[in-house]
Amino acid sequence: MRNGEIRVRDAGVCYRLYREKVSTLKEAVVNRFRHLRSAEIFWAVRHVSLEIEPGEAIALVGHNGSGKSTLLKTIAGVLMPDEGEVFVQGRISPMIELGAGFDPELSGRDNIFLNGALLGFSRKQMEGKFDRIVAFSELGDFIDMPIKNYSSGMYARLGFAIAQDVEPDILIVDEVLAVGDERFQEKCKARIRDFRSAGITFCFVSHNYEAARELCPRAAVLHHGRLAFDGPIGQAWERYRELERGPAPGPQIEAS
Ligand SMILES: Nc1ncnc2c1ncn2[C@@H]1O[C@H](COP(=O)(O)OP(=O)(O)OP(=O)(O)O)[C@@H](O)[C@H]1O
Ligand SMILES: [Mg+2]
Repeated sequence: MRNGEIRVRDAGVCYRLYREKVSTLKEAVVNRFRHLRSAEIFWAVRHVSLEIEPGEAIALVGHNGSGKSTLLKTIAGVLMPDEGEVFVQGRISPMIELGAGFDPELSGRDNIFLNGALLGFSRKQMEGKFDRIVAFSELGDFIDMPIKNYSSGMYARLGFAIAQDVEPDILIVDEVLAVGDERFQEKCKARIRDFRSAGITFCFVSHNYEAARELCPRAAVLHHGRLAFDGPIGQAWERYRELERGPAPGPQIEAS
């Protein structure tokens, strides 16, 4: 495989939901006593295949809960697929959830080194990047404050500032840009465009058509965990709108 290449083949990811199935108080007591709990399997993503070439930019589009973040987590290696295969080549810089890979008790400064270590950089290498990261984040003196006191926009700034300086082959951005203010969003978009011209693969989740269209010519539409469309972003958005209007199929829950 080439650096920056992503292959998703018939991938499925399920979550196990544990529910106490009780109708009377007595049953509740007995079930608790016996530790009897029923498990249901919920397929958040199923039968999804995608081929993403090095340097390509793709948007993942779909309603809340359609499986976008789950699919991105599988590509980022945070989750393993329960079915099918996911192959990824190269260094991934994932911005998947606000504060993922951060320790809230530590300062912004310490979190930069922690994140660097998670991405395979030595302390010395991160020292070389540190000033640039802080400058990009524009957090100033807040860099020495525990990040549990950060606002969501400040989290996003730190996260993106790190992600954009770790020489990725693949950049994954899951909506986190949406919490930054407009000026910071523009700065991130400009940086993403630089990455695009440098041939870095880019996967983007956004509910904002303008932002997605600006950065990604291609889009995959997820609908209840299935791939409903994969193609030019204009058509993808039409498909997404149609699906939003149509009747929703029931959830794919199986007893186990
Ligand atoms: N850890 C989990 N345990 C159980 N179910 C989960 C878990 N994470 C996600 N899900 C379920 O999987 C489905 C897909 O969630 P996912 O976060 O991938 O959706 P999404 O497309 O990213 O949605 P959004 O637009 O709201 O970010 C949802 O129904 C969600 O409830
Ligand atoms: Mg999500």
